[in-house]
Amino acid sequence: MTFLASAPAKVILFGEHFVVENEPAIAAALDLRVEVSVNLLDEKRFEIRSGNLFSFVRLDDLLSNHYSVNQHFKPLYIILRKVIEKYGFEGGLKFIIKSPIPMGVGLGSSAAVFVAFSAGLLKAVAGEYDLEKVVKLASEGEILAHGRPSGIDPTISANGGVIVYRKSEGFIPLKAAIPLHLVIGVSGEVRSTATMVEKVLSLKKRFPEIFEPLYHAAGHLAIEAAKAIERGDLTSIGMLMNINHGLLSSLGVSTMNLERLVHAARDAGALGAKITGAGGGGAIISICPQNLLETVASAIKRSGGFPLISKVSDRGVSVIER
Ligand code: MEV
Repeated sequence: MTFLASAPAKVILFGEHFVVENEPAIAAALDLRVEVSVNLLDEKRFEIRSGNLFSFVRLDDLLSNHYSVNQHFKPLYIILRKVIEKYGFEGGLKFIIKSPIPMGVGLGSSAAVFVAFSAGLLKAVAGEYDLEKVVKLASEGEILAHGRPSGIDPTISANGGVIVYRKSEGFIPLKAAIPLHLVIGVSGEVRSTATMVEKVLSLKKRFPEIFEPLYHAAGHLAIEAAKAIERGDLTSIGMLMNINHGLLSSLGVSTMNLERLVHAARDAGALGAKITGAGGGGAIISICPQNLLETVASAIKRSGGFPLISKVSDRGVSVIER
């Protein structure tokens, strides 16, 4: 029997970094999905394959914590062990991960993998999964991968759609009054979310009097943006994105390449453009009228970025049985 689990990539529309310190933020699921197939094995062992990376661990070794695997797979085996310990399992499983999401650029590739993996695993071992359990397991993976994450990435990937999220309170789904068309510009610069988050937090710690009001402004901005999304006010959404980009620059997470892409998108007719995710490289997003998507994508390409035209998707995690 095979279970095919899938989960979406995400963008943070408003409030990345500020969300780590409990300000509200807005995230949206994209129509780009990770797939994880789960097959039952006769032998008592667990195999994971992703591209040309492969590893396996025997059930006994997993339970006694006597194994060593590629760093990339470590959080997955930790999730695996938690689930096996809780529900018990006497067989083996083979996981094959396929992801079209560019890695390490702020589009939530790791969270989407953890979410799809956790849902497929729960379905195979416990017979069912629920979103709360999936988010909890995936968040543990995120802590191992990203240090001190807010939890927004696994929450949006599991639930889909558009959400307002606050670390201490969870999330509320938003009903966008109009379709949200985005052009993403991937910069090609490599960065680590954990490093960027630590860098921002230490800057905030050094200048608390300056940063406290900035953080509150970002929280208010996310609330205004939620209202603009629900009334379908693209002009305000764009303006708020531009302001949000300015706030992110003041946290020190912009780069010359990201600035180029943001300005290329705006000059080509995007209503607003900003860094998305941790910054320091990674990607920008721009919100565009539908007739200008190709124009904005070409401008991003001319400025050295890799453009992706994408739509917000209502689909969160799913598992089908084959
Ligand atoms: C993650 O996509 C964006 C950050 O806000 C970190 C987090 O929320 O975990 C930078």
